[in-house]
Amino acid sequence: MESSSPQSRPDPTAIGDMPAAEFRRAMHRVADMVADYLENVRDYPVLPKVAPGDVRSALPAEPPARAEPIDTILDDYKRIIEPNVTHWNHPGFMAYFAVTGSGPGILGEALSAALNLNAMLWRTAPAATELEELVCDWLRQMIGLPPEFVGHINDTASVSSLVSLAAARHHVRDSSIRQRGMAGRPDLPPLVIYASEHAHSSIGKAAITLGIGLDNVRHIPADDAFRMRPDALAEAIAQDRAAGRMPMAVVATVGTTSTTSIDPLPAIVEICRRENLWLHVDAAYAGSAAICPEYRAWMDGIEQADSIVFNPHKWLCVPVDCSILLVRDPKQLRDAFSLVPEYLRTSETGVTNLMDYGVQLGRRFRALKVWLVIRTFGVQGLQARIRAHCAMAQELAGHVKNASDFEISAPVPFSTVCFRAVPAGSPEDQDRFNEQLLADINAAGPVFLSHTRLRGRYVLRACIGNLRARPDDVPETWNLIRRCADRLLARTD
Ligand SMILES: Cc1ncc(COP(=O)(O)O)c(C=O)c1O
Repeated sequence: MESSSPQSRPDPTAIGDMPAAEFRRAMHRVADMVADYLENVRDYPVLPKVAPGDVRSALPAEPPARAEPIDTILDDYKRIIEPNVTHWNHPGFMAYFAVTGSGPGILGEALSAALNLNAMLWRTAPAATELEELVCDWLRQMIGLPPEFVGHINDTASVSSLVSLAAARHHVRDSSIRQRGMAGRPDLPPLVIYASEHAHSSIGKAAITLGIGLDNVRHIPADDAFRMRPDALAEAIAQDRAAGRMPMAVVATVGTTSTTSIDPLPAIVEICRRENLWLHVDAAYAGSAAICPEYRAWMDGIEQADSIVFNPHKWLCVPVDCSILLVRDPKQLRDAFSLVPEYLRTSETGVTNLMDYGVQLGRRFRALKVWLVIRTFGVQGLQARIRAHCAMAQELAGHVKNASDFEISAPVPFSTVCFRAVPAGSPEDQDRFNEQLLADINAAGPVFLSHTRLRGRYVLRACIGNLRARPDDVPETWNLIRRCADRLLARTD
């Protein structure tokens, strides 16, 4: 356990940073706190036993007028903050898409905070700019994309998709939207984005932000395996053209949020080519699996996309936040976004200025943690972890399949299992049963699952993607699900 040592109260008139010796000592204490936390995170329930308002009411409402000793603050962190977070680093965190902050990723975050640089221009951050270019190219190679793809790092997939769709909008022929905007333009037909009914809400948010509007996002119906139907896509495009609207982009999802289904890329690519539409692939979660050649086969055709997003912070052991946007032609992003005021002009030629590739000017040094993670685990080490998670998911799916009162609700191509209990009763009774089952499982402590609705029915989801997950977590998780279901059956009989 970490120890706190007595120290004098800071001098209220001091200027400058905390004293160097004090910082060094506190940093060692924080190192111990972090290592203890990661070693013992299983001792916490995944969901904290906390009610809304508890954390705020445990803290002073007003800021401290006088400096406080760092050990007092770290003690409060240990007592009030750490136990009251939802523990995303807990191996039982199987809700949504699990994320894991690995040791090397955390070291990268600490070093990046120490440098505190702003990688807006090559001049302001030569090493950060070049390392970002390098790790994006490493990631490109790792997922088997051709060399023309060039990447940069954003905070989230939502922003990566927004940036990609802004580039798609810029390339609508004769539109001059960058210069003239979209308002009051009788010459500009409504632009339309196409995505499957299972696409992530970030695509709708991009449409909101870009002035395209939710009414102009077509949610294309999916087939039995929750994949976008190319025939329905082609039909929707034809209808929009006939009505005088202007199709702008198609978003295909590889690894949808609910079920991790994979839209049929080859057929979608063909439609985009024929219709001259930008193709953006949202592989926020499943893109990481493409580092294993056997999972890449699911994504055949991805190399034909104009842009691809995936989040190393979801399933590649990089701490939040880290989303990579790979584009076939980076000039398309520069054309859409580059706007250089005088004070940001520099004399270097032939360098990348990362501010030219999206909305933001300032930029964190995220590449450092990616670099540490890839070097520390190696590509083979990362592949082994992805494969282990997928194998654990198959094992969990096997338990579900073997139980006569449960069913698998969707195919399991990666590490996410959708399932539900099917006790006797109406579909509505079953929905209520599953909703209560989820609440009971999550109240138990060691596991946190989430839910979705598929074909109108309430479905539980378990995503295995945590670095600290062990093989015996699968039977233990299944035993917990089974126990909660049996107790609930006994209660509802
Ligand atoms: C397929 C997909 N795309 C996009 C997102 C949004 O991710 P982010 O939180 O990085 O914006 C998610 C979130 O889980 C997702 O599942």
